[in-house]
Amino acid sequence: MSKKVTVPDIMSAKGKRKLTEITAYDYPTALLADESGMDMILVGDSLAMVVLGQEDTLSVGMTEMLHHTLAVSRGAKNSLVIGDMPFLSYQASVEQAVINAGRFLKEGRAGAVKLEGGSRVAPQVKAIAEAGIPVQGHLGLTPQSAQQFGGFKVQGKTAEAAKIMIEDARALEQAGCFSIVLEAIPSAIAEKITHSVKIPTIGIGAGKACDGQVLVIHDVLGLYERFTPRFVKQYTKLSEPIRQALARYREEVEKGVFPGPEHSFTMSEEEMRKLSGE
Ligand code: KIV
Repeated sequence: MSKKVTVPDIMSAKGKRKLTEITAYDYPTALLADESGMDMILVGDSLAMVVLGQEDTLSVGMTEMLHHTLAVSRGAKNSLVIGDMPFLSYQASVEQAVINAGRFLKEGRAGAVKLEGGSRVAPQVKAIAEAGIPVQGHLGLTPQSAQQFGGFKVQGKTAEAAKIMIEDARALEQAGCFSIVLEAIPSAIAEKITHSVKIPTIGIGAGKACDGQVLVIHDVLGLYERFTPRFVKQYTKLSEPIRQALARYREEVEKGVFPGPEHSFTMSEEEMRKLSGE
């Protein structure tokens, strides 16, 4: 029987085996991700885009994130559930960061939180970790800063930017992160960061040298058709069979084929007679 994945399990996997992480936003997909043996399930703020249809991740708030995190936690028996701290839930003050991080554990029943940024959020990471809440860091293309980057662009492409990112990774480790997501950065920089810290790095568009990989479940399953980043591998295209099933359902209702007798309930003849007053 498999057992619940813990933060120490994740930390001690570095250099021994590759770690797996995927996003989920609801109970049925959390059940499937958990059954598939994922180490970590991230309730990403990508919720805003792939589930709520927003154009970026900025407008999603604590209410929506906690609502979805709780649903995922109900489905994740073994995987470690990580709640993604939304924009402005941790940037403004250390105190607010600790309170909001705590809500993911208390109200969302998550086992950890994730937040974006390097040295500038190190005080928040330190305070959250000291409150007993495990923190996953996130460097590189951090979508909450897309306005600052001028869009969803690969980061760390100059030697100077790469040096700052390595320093950021060390600062996050020092502050108490148990792992760091590296998003959309050159593979060579991800490799350098992976060798510069003792905590696991989890890549998304950061090459194979990372200690693990994370992807958005809608991208993996072919359910988000607005755009597919180059770093995504689509393992199936579920939107097609879903389209076909919905079209068949509509046609069968329109033609009177569905529901058939096997989907319908009967009443005894005696009750039917009483009803018609015989
Ligand atoms: O919100 C999210 O899904 C993420 C992953 C892409 C790492 O932050």
